[in-house]
Amino acid sequence: MRALQLLVLVLSGLVGAQQQALMDYLERRLLAIEDRISLWHEQTSRYTSELREFKQQMVAQLEGLDKSKEALRSELDTVGTRVDRVEREMDYLETQNGVQPCVDVDDKLVEQQVTAVKERNKAKYAKLTDCSDMISSIKAMKILKRVGGAKGMWTKDMGSATGKVYILNGTEGNTMYEFGTVREFTSSQGTSAATSVQLPSAWRGLGHAIYNNHLYYLKQGEEMKLIKFDLQKNIVVDSAVFPAKNQLPVYGLNPETFIDLAVDEEGLWAIYATQENERHISLAKIDPKTLDIEQMWDTPCVRENAEAAFVICGTIYVVYNSKLPSRSRIQCVFDVSDMVTNDDAPHVYFPKRYGTHASLKYSPVEQLLYAWDDGYQILYKLQMKKKLDV
Ligand SMILES: *[C@@H]1O[C@H](CO)[C@@H](O)[C@H](O)[C@H]1NC(C)=O
Repeated sequence: MRALQLLVLVLSGLVGAQQQALMDYLERRLLAIEDRISLWHEQTSRYTSELREFKQQMVAQLEGLDKSKEALRSELDTVGTRVDRVEREMDYLETQNGVQPCVDVDDKLVEQQVTAVKERNKAKYAKLTDCSDMISSIKAMKILKRVGGAKGMWTKDMGSATGKVYILNGTEGNTMYEFGTVREFTSSQGTSAATSVQLPSAWRGLGHAIYNNHLYYLKQGEEMKLIKFDLQKNIVVDSAVFPAKNQLPVYGLNPETFIDLAVDEEGLWAIYATQENERHISLAKIDPKTLDIEQMWDTPCVRENAEAAFVICGTIYVVYNSKLPSRSRIQCVFDVSDMVTNDDAPHVYFPKRYGTHASLKYSPVEQLLYAWDDGYQILYKLQMKKKLDV
């Protein structure tokens, strides 16, 4: 019995000691937690006041920014002009150093085209009557050469595939260069392998066309006189004053061109602009035999920031860029047969270049675009689709 009492006593003593230890432990933990809580408090209030300070600084800076935004905007115009100047200087340096063409996407393009053209001709001409192609994308690009100045025009005979290459360098002049083949053109030094063709009067702008062995061009001078020049006999065979009054430059980015002549599957077209409809580009169908105007249309395509245009199957495609050159893109189309509207026309972007196109000439025989970009002669191969397949 005594033994049992003793055991109880010892046990309760032990429990008591354990409780005490637990209490001590808990108290230490509590103290530690309290310390940390007060530390957090301190930190939080410091953070809050720092945040408040930061906010105040931001508000002050934002106010400052608002003020300098105005100043920046006015400076931007000045900077723009300076960038323009630097770009011109860079272009000049590049011409001095004779930079080689650096893009060569489709090496076989020209060779294939030249040999394929003859076979394809038959099929193509059978299609003339029910021409219904429209552009779907640009399949390939090839830079052939750099000959001539910033602006100019190069083409083949867009009516018949003779293979000859014609160069009209500059926005005015009366010497045209003729190369026997594309290969002669690309392999020769400058224009050394070319035949010079002296024209009886100087051309104006970049809108010339070569169609079925004739050069059509706008003559220098006050009146808008179109000349038809026979390339086999080397004589002027016809001329006519273009019947539009108060003509304006067609393209905002190439103001030298007053009439841009284009060839498509259906014949010869003139792209022009007049004061009567001064924001927009107009289109006329020309009889290539007589230079008569058959019909005229006002298109919804604006002149501002336009660099060039071309016609495919009776649809005009206007190509736009910006004053500081970026990517050229087709941004407006107008179809004289009303089958294509601006909404279902694809917005086709050209591969990136640093310049803008001075001219873009469509070859219905080859479905190529002959482009002149800062002295480079470029070919774009077009992917077509049917107008009604949209
Ligand atoms: C092309 O024209 C530019 C001026 O526009 C001229 O400086 C250059 O010499 C010409 N090049 C050829 C090959 O005629």
